Amino acid sequence: MSKQRIFSGIQPSGNLHIGNYLGAIKNWVALQDQYESIFCVVDMHAITVPQDPEILRKKTIEIARIYLAAGIDPAQSTIFIQSHVKAHAELCWILNSVTARMGDMEKMTQFKDKSQKEGTERATVGLFDYPVLMAGDILLYDTQTVPVGQDQVQHVELARTLARRFNKRFGETFVVPEYFVKEEGKMIMGLDNPEKKMSKSAASEYNYISLMDNADDVRKKIRKAVTDSGEEIVYRDDKPALKNLINIYALLANISTQDVEKKFVGKRYGDFKNDLAETVVAFLVPFQKRMSEISDEDVLTVLRSGAKRAGEIAEKKMQEVKEKVGFII
Ligand code: TYM
Repeated sequence: MSKQRIFSGIQPSGNLHIGNYLGAIKNWVALQDQYESIFCVVDMHAITVPQDPEILRKKTIEIARIYLAAGIDPAQSTIFIQSHVKAHAELCWILNSVTARMGDMEKMTQFKDKSQKEGTERATVGLFDYPVLMAGDILLYDTQTVPVGQDQVQHVELARTLARRFNKRFGETFVVPEYFVKEEGKMIMGLDNPEKKMSKSAASEYNYISLMDNADDVRKKIRKAVTDSGEEIVYRDDKPALKNLINIYALLANISTQDVEKKFVGKRYGDFKNDLAETVVAFLVPFQKRMSEISDEDVLTVLRSGAKRAGEIAEKKMQEVKEKVGFII
C-alpha cells in the first residue's frame, strides 16, 4: 500500500520563531518517514500583507533553508515554493467561485484578528481570501493529513468543507483532509504575554525567540520572560506562563513535562530559567551552524526539483478539476 500524504507550509514573512518550529516543523521531521511529505514555502500567502520584494525573496530562501537545517530530507520529501506551481492560483479561483461562500469566510477568526489593526476597509481581498488559497494548497495534492499549529485548524476545517461541497456537486474529486495537531506544541505562547500566542508579527522582540537569535539574545529574552506568582516549577493551567516555558523546555529536550517538573523539584524560577536558556541555546547553535552550511545554490536546487515534482501532481489534479467544472481541456 502506498504511503499516506501530508502537506504543510509556512509563510516567508517576519522571523520564524521557536513556536513555528515546535508547533509545525519539528512534527514534520518526525512524520516524514511515515508519510509521503510535501512542504511548501507559501509566498503567495505572504503578499496578502505588504512585503518588501527583496526581503520576501531572501525570506523565501531562508524558510527553505530552515526546513533543510531542521532535518527535512529532500531525498524523501518534496520542498517547493508555492508561486512556482501555478495550479495553486488556478484552484484558488475555482474554489472561490464554485465552493467558498461569504458565510464561511466571515467566520474566519484569523482574518478578524489580522484586519483589526487597520480595519477591514483597508484589508486586502487576498487577506480575506487567504483560507481558500490554503484550501487549494491542501486539496491539490490529495492530502490526507495536514500537520499544523492550533491557529491553522479553522483553515483546515474550511478545506474539509470545500472538498466535501465540491465532491457533492461534481462527484468524488478531493480527499477530505484531517489535521494533525500535537498537544504540547500546538500553541506556544508569547514570552511577554502567556495569554497570546507567540507571533512573527509581535510588536516586541521579547515576545518570541527567533530561530536566528544568538545565545545572548536568548538568555536575555528568557530572563525577561514573565512568570507566574509562586515559587514551585509546576505544569498547571493556573500558571500559564510557567506552563508555556515548561512546554518549550520539554519539547526541546525531548522529555515529558512531568520529567521537567521532577528535575526542578525544590529549585527556583531562576534556576529553571537559566537551564531553559541553555537548553534553547543548545538547540539553536547547531541548528544555525547547519543553516550556514547550506548555500543558496543548494537550496535553489532542492526548490527547483521540488517544484517539478509538485507541479506534476498538481497539474494532474487540475485537469480533473477543470474537466469537472466544464472547462475545455
Ligand atoms: P504560518 O506561517 O503563520 O505558521 C507556520 C506554522 O507555524 C504554526 N505556528 C505555531 N505553532 C505553535 N505555536 C505558535 N505560537 C505558532 N505560531 C505559528 C502554524 O500553526 C503553522 O503550522 N496559512 C498558514 C500557511 C499555509 C499552510 C497551507 C499550512 C498555507 N497553506 C497549507 C498548512 C497547509 C500560515 O500562515 O502559517
